[in-house]
Amino acid sequence: MHPSSLHVAIIMDGNGRWAMARALPRTVGHRAGMEAVRRVVDAAPELEIGALTLFAFSSNNWQRPADQVEGLMDIFRAYFEQDLPLFLERGIRVNVMGRRDRLPAGLRSAIDEAELATAGGSRLHLRIALDYSGREALLRAARRARSAYEISPETFAFLLAEVSHSGSMVPDIDLLIRTGGEQRLSDVLLWESAYAELVFTPNLWPDFHAADLQAAIEEYHHRERRFGQVHEVAIV
Ligand code: FPP
Repeated sequence: MHPSSLHVAIIMDGNGRWAMARALPRTVGHRAGMEAVRRVVDAAPELEIGALTLFAFSSNNWQRPADQVEGLMDIFRAYFEQDLPLFLERGIRVNVMGRRDRLPAGLRSAIDEAELATAGGSRLHLRIALDYSGREALLRAARRARSAYEISPETFAFLLAEVSHSGSMVPDIDLLIRTGGEQRLSDVLLWESAYAELVFTPNLWPDFHAADLQAAIEEYHHRERRFGQVHEVAIV
């Protein structure tokens, strides 16, 4: 990833409400959400985004009704299968973060194929979180780290990337966007978003366009990132 490029993460919320407002089944909202995913993936490289992490299914989402979960799993599989040629054409490297063992076998093979085929992509690192829990990832990394007498933040971050199937080390999240009006983190990448700028928008995810992504990035650039330090004061 180019040092000046950004790592943007998005919590894609509001698909169900988008569908309900139109008296449509929630799965239709999730399908419309897939089109929004396509729009942001398409726009990301021109907006200087080097890594894009999308939260598609949290470990808590298994508690949703079975038909909704099944509908989502079908959408994820269709996405990886249908968009593979585009990933290859555009130099997009794909990784799926989170647990694999509870995903349907067909989806798992579509993921394996997409990850293997796109491993050489260098224009955009697209990470999709499926069956992901930030706390669980931290616990797994901590279990691996426990035999070490001392562990540096860098080594811990490396372990965390490894247990989360991150593909490779990715810099911390610069900008975290959540659509759908809620203002919380919901167990996303907790370590990696320690210093992320947060942008919350009432826009529902299926209504999110490249211009909204651009607006969030502009807002990010207007914020001053201090990483806990004070203003630099010129001493004359
Ligand atoms: C959050 O709630 C969103 C989800 C559980 C699913 C997000 C998945 C997609 C947008 C599908 C496309 C994704 C990929 C990677 C192709 P909600 O939006 O269902 O419900 P809410 O309106 O009640 O908050």
